[in-house]
Amino acid sequence: MALWGGRFSESPADAVFALSRSVDFDWCLAPYDLRSSLAHLRVLQNSGLIKSDAAKRIEGGLRDLIADVATGKFSPNAADEDVHSALERGLTEKIGEVGGALRAGRSRNDQVATDLKLFAIDHMLDIADQIIGLQEALIAKASEYSDAPAPGFTHMQHAQPILFGHEIAKHVHAFARDLDRISDWLTRTSVSPLGSGALAGSGLGLAPEVTAKDLGFSSSSANSIDGVSDRDFVAEALFIISMVGVHLSRIGEEWCIWATTEFGWAKVSDAYSTGSSIMPQKKNPDVAELARGKAGRLIGNLTGVLAMLKGLPFAYNRDLQEDKEPLFDSIDTLRLVLPAVTGMVATTSFDREKMAAAAPQGFSLATEIADFLVRAGVTFAQAHEAAGKCVALCESKGLQLHELSDSDFVGVHPSLTSEVRTSLTVAGAIASRKTIGATGGAALAVQLKDAVAETKDYKTKISTQINNFSEMMSQ
Ligand code: ARG
Repeated sequence: MALWGGRFSESPADAVFALSRSVDFDWCLAPYDLRSSLAHLRVLQNSGLIKSDAAKRIEGGLRDLIADVATGKFSPNAADEDVHSALERGLTEKIGEVGGALRAGRSRNDQVATDLKLFAIDHMLDIADQIIGLQEALIAKASEYSDAPAPGFTHMQHAQPILFGHEIAKHVHAFARDLDRISDWLTRTSVSPLGSGALAGSGLGLAPEVTAKDLGFSSSSANSIDGVSDRDFVAEALFIISMVGVHLSRIGEEWCIWATTEFGWAKVSDAYSTGSSIMPQKKNPDVAELARGKAGRLIGNLTGVLAMLKGLPFAYNRDLQEDKEPLFDSIDTLRLVLPAVTGMVATTSFDREKMAAAAPQGFSLATEIADFLVRAGVTFAQAHEAAGKCVALCESKGLQLHELSDSDFVGVHPSLTSEVRTSLTVAGAIASRKTIGATGGAALAVQLKDAVAETKDYKTKISTQINNFSEMMSQ
């Protein structure tokens, strides 16, 4: 049903209808559209523009429609242009022409912005909840390997020995920043566009701040033109989702490397691996690869929306209809990837012996020699030079650092007494790193304890917000 036929003498050409039709992808906004219609109805009734018996009929119609949309009994037909027109048809089919009264004082422009905000808030809360689930899996895995030495890398070269739990735990902090971003985004997004009308606000004396409150927003738009034009919340949500996707892709890359025969550290469980159609021996880390691959798609959705918004005149322009599919796709994508990565993390086991054996390789204890000299009063520049010479000596003699003789050490630097050998152990190197955030066992234990507490706080906060939102939706 078209919502705008009056001034036209011809119906739109088929090609125009096909181009402008959005109901095939915006139907998922239906529950939010119906809920904001209930809020709009209340202000129309309070302002006396809809009498109470008409308001009762409209409310009954909207509530029936909410149930019919949920069960699938009501759905769009071939002639519906978008979710708003389909639902207005549904309402008038149920209660007759009085259904059209709801259109007073609002436009699809403020309606679609409101619906999309509610949809985005609902789904970003769900994503936050899934991120917390992944953090819990990462913390559990980090705790399981909080006593397992492994080489740490920079430039993908052995750098310094670390505890493997420290390696896993780093991801928890990246996701904590994502949760912070979602929380900031929620605060900024909590402004209701409803009541902005087409662009200039409504002359009917409605109260946007009342509908805002009804829908759980903190305030209503301070500028009605901005209210209908603002899609920052879409772009920002897409950035946050892309950042989560990038974090997932970095986990994916690590898992792929650790699962290679050459590394042989990670044993990915069968339930989170796939096979090859031709090579019977293959067990592929497809979850990790898809986590890596999907990040590209998420970034694409973000850049697509930014490009659509760039240079767009205020207020509403039909270009804005292109905000939806990228947002829906990114949300769907992340909600597919997050549980799979969480399961993969939770069910992967690691080869402690292999990691421990690799920990001192590649002269990863050379920094200990430099630190030993610094403690003996040598400048770091000289200490670094001396440690480098020890490495070169080892390479020429085919030895490991701790295998150099006392005279080799003193030959390199007079302060390199035989005592240096006590620093040249993986356990000693790790244990000496005691400061906040360092890899030493004690520091790692504190880090994990704090992470458990922080995740628990977030869990409480998000579940309260989820409950509040679903309570608002049910009113
Ligand atoms: N389907 C449209 C969208 O998604 C709804 C708003 C249409 N408004 C208009 N003035 N044509 O953006």
